Amino acid sequence: MNFHVLTLFPDMIETGMHTSVTGRALDQGLISLETVNIRDFAFNKHKHVDDYPYGGGAGMVMQAEPIYLAWESVAGAMEKKPRVIYVTPQGKVFNQVMAQDYSREEDLVFLCGHYEGVDERILEEIVTDYVSIGDYILSGGELAAMVIMDAVSRLVPGVLGNEESAEFESFHDSLLEHPHYTRPAVFHGRPVPEVLLSGHHANIDRWRRDQSLKRTKERRPDLLDQAELSKEDIKYLKTLAPDSNV
Ligand code: ADE
Repeated sequence: MNFHVLTLFPDMIETGMHTSVTGRALDQGLISLETVNIRDFAFNKHKHVDDYPYGGGAGMVMQAEPIYLAWESVAGAMEKKPRVIYVTPQGKVFNQVMAQDYSREEDLVFLCGHYEGVDERILEEIVTDYVSIGDYILSGGELAAMVIMDAVSRLVPGVLGNEESAEFESFHDSLLEHPHYTRPAVFHGRPVPEVLLSGHHANIDRWRRDQSLKRTKERRPDLLDQAELSKEDIKYLKTLAPDSNV
């Protein structure tokens, strides 16, 4: 997985990505990162990459040409043109299925915008995917690009120590994860649920599944519609809400 990020703040991307799980994956060569400073492609002596909006209005607009040249420096030599993700609150809201889709690509290019926006013509020309990370406005696309790269990196084989761990995490099955406990057995008077100390693996599995169902119903009931539920699952959910028709 080769990430390429077109940005005005390459240091932000480099620092964030060279930390924690993605940092280790970069060190191990399981993923790679190329940051391209759009300002390096400014074509005026002041290195400006933005200008006033045609039609007037507040704020500045990032110009098409420096972004085009930055993109060309990445994709120009590539035989197969890579997907280019423009991170924007106007995009499709990112989710785990999209992360899985992206993890199958060899190269992913991110375009991070700033100021009030980006000249529409460069978007028309190079962007393949418009992606938002949620319904709020960030100051720029860098954090959004890092969120997506983090979620995608974890799906690249070898990035997580235990290959299984990505599979059983929240959203694998459209359900939230069960709660976790470690020592001590009692913390501030709160004991660990007894079943976890029983050593009875079938009971533990059932308890964890029930906790996932309960938690999803309480916190993200919208996810239950997409979940694959067994007869036992439905029976358990009915004990939580006798009147509901789940
Ligand atoms: N840029 C600014 N806000 C954003 C958001 N919510 N998602 C993706 N990119 C953004």
